[in-house]
Amino acid sequence: MEFHVYESARAACEAAGVLIAAQITRKGDSVLGLATGSTPIPAYEMLVQWWERGVIDFDKIRTFNLDEYVGIDQKNPMSYHAFMQEHLFSKVNLRPENTNLPSGRSVTACTAYDEKIRAAGGIDIQLLGIGRNGHIGFNEPADEFTYGTHIVTLAQDTIEANARFFRSADEVPRQAISMGIGNIMAARCVVLVATGENKAQAVYDTICGPITPHVPASILQLHPCCVILADRDASKLMRK
Ligand code: PGA
Repeated sequence: MEFHVYESARAACEAAGVLIAAQITRKGDSVLGLATGSTPIPAYEMLVQWWERGVIDFDKIRTFNLDEYVGIDQKNPMSYHAFMQEHLFSKVNLRPENTNLPSGRSVTACTAYDEKIRAAGGIDIQLLGIGRNGHIGFNEPADEFTYGTHIVTLAQDTIEANARFFRSADEVPRQAISMGIGNIMAARCVVLVATGENKAQAVYDTICGPITPHVPASILQLHPCCVILADRDASKLMRK
């Protein structure tokens, strides 16, 4: 596990953009694992700028997102489909048929997503944020890790954290479809970005704590190529 600390949240997120751009530069038909939330937005802004300047090309890039709410229309502005359209897909030359987000609530939908990732040759680089409770994707703290794409009931802490994107916590969907820990661990490289003081405990537990499904990100200690990029606030417990 590599751990890098940045002066600002923006710098930490942009550094993730650098790693994704490097992957695209080195392999033009890369498979990217993408994330939503506030954290990755500056990374997407950098990728858009580099595409506009002709530095990187998305023509042969394929993408798989980590997760999506269940029971929300893809056109709903709060959906992760809409988020990806707004921040990346509509702004670069990604082919719509090469972008994928999980959807549905059936076991068949889950296994179909796993199969599509596998058929694409697996994920080259997986971008991750982290929840205050240590979740990655919507793999919430639990008694065991879940391997593949699955339907999750969101933790109360996640509902409260995500309420800021909705008019109230009541509007936050209670369920999501998410890649599992096995999907994330199978990515060839994982880049996790953590910013803000409210992520400090999760960062500390991820890197220094025991590997446990109660801190889902802690499994990344076992990943052969995992880079954690954090700002000063998110890494403050690491400096004790
Ligand atoms: P955030 O979400 O980037 O909006 O903080 C991260 C996450 O919950 O994975």
